Amino acid sequence: MANNILICAPDRRLYDLIAPVLIINNPVKAMNIRDKIAVVTGATGGIGYSISNALVKREIGGIAIVDLSQRCEEIAATLNKLAGEKLALPFCGDVTHPAFRKRVFDTMREKFGAVQICVPAAGIVADSLAVKVNRENGVVELYDESIFREILSVNLVHPTYWAMEAIAGIARSRFEKGLKKWIAEEGIQGVVILIGSVSCRGNRGQVGYAAAKSALIAVSSTLNLEGLFHGVQTKIVHPGFVDTQMVNTIDQEYFEKTLKPRIGLGRKIQPDEIAAIICAMIENPVLSGEVWADASMSPLA
Ligand SMILES: NC(=O)c1ccc[n+]([C@@H]2O[C@H](COP(=O)([O-])OP(=O)(O)OC[C@H]3O[C@@H](n4cnc5c(N)ncnc54)[C@H](O)[C@@H]3O)[C@@H](O)[C@H]2O)c1
Repeated sequence: MANNILICAPDRRLYDLIAPVLIINNPVKAMNIRDKIAVVTGATGGIGYSISNALVKREIGGIAIVDLSQRCEEIAATLNKLAGEKLALPFCGDVTHPAFRKRVFDTMREKFGAVQICVPAAGIVADSLAVKVNRENGVVELYDESIFREILSVNLVHPTYWAMEAIAGIARSRFEKGLKKWIAEEGIQGVVILIGSVSCRGNRGQVGYAAAKSALIAVSSTLNLEGLFHGVQTKIVHPGFVDTQMVNTIDQEYFEKTLKPRIGLGRKIQPDEIAAIICAMIENPVLSGEVWADASMSPLA
C-alpha cells in the first residue's frame, strides 16, 4: 500500500496541470506553502499581487511584499487583514539595488527565519524595434543601449540575484545545522519560481526583454542543478498575455487585431490563474523545469 499519494503533472504544458495523474510512493516530500517564509518582488503589480494573495490564503507564515511602488504598505496591510495577523512586511525599494535586497532577506530572516519561497516577479518592458528606419529622412536608429541594459538589470539580473540570495539563506541554515549534501528524506527545503515569458522565443520590439526572459531559462536550470545540493528547486513559468498593467499599456486596438487572434483561448489570462500555477509549482516537486502558461498561444515570431 502506498504511504503517500501525490497528484502531479509530469509534463511541461499547462493542460497537464488540468489532467493530473497519480504518482504513488513519491520519495521526495512535497513542500507545503503553509507556515513557510516567502519573498515576492513586483508584489504590487498584477501577477505579484495575485501570488502574494494566493500564498496568504494558503497560510504562509511570513511574506515580504517588495516593490518600487509605495502601494507596498497598502498591499501588506490588506494581506495582514486577510490573514488576521501581521505576516506581510512591506519593502518599498528598487530590486536592482544589492543593499536593498540584502536588507529584505536579513529582515525576513530575523523576524521569521530563512526565506524558503522566492518569486522575483518585478519586471519592466520598453518596447521598440531593434533597428528602426525613419521613413521620412532615412535615419536609422538602434534600440537605446542604456534602456537595453536597464531591461536586463530588472528582468534578468534582479531575478537571478534574488533567487541566489534565497538559495544562500537555505544553504547557510543547513550548514549551521551541520547538514551537507541534501538527501530526499529531508524533503524540499525551498523553491524559487522565475517568471519567464512567451517572448523568450523572440518577439518583435522586445530585443532586450526577449533576451532577458530567454536567459532566465538557463538561470533556472543552472540554479536548479546547483541549488538541489541544498534541497532548493528552481523552476520557470512562461505566461502568455496576462491581464495586468504591463499588457494593458499595449495599444488595445493592436492587441485585439494582431495579438488576440494568436491566443487559442481567445482571451487574456487572469493573474490569479498564473498564481494558481505558481502555487502548484511550489508544492509539487515533480513539476519542474519550464511550465508554459500561454492559453494555447501560437508562436509570436
Ligand atoms: N503581463 C503579462 O502578460 C506577462 C507575460 C509574461 C511575463 N510577465 C512577467 O510577469 C512579471 C510581473 O509582471 P506583471 O504583468 O504583473 O506587470 P506589472 O507591471 O503589473 O507589475 C510589475 C511590477 O514590478 C515592479 N517593478 C518594476 N521595476 C521594479 C524595480 N526596479 N524595483 C522594484 N519593483 C519594480 C512595478 O512597480 C510593478 O508593480 C514580470 O516579470 C513580467 O515580465 C508578464
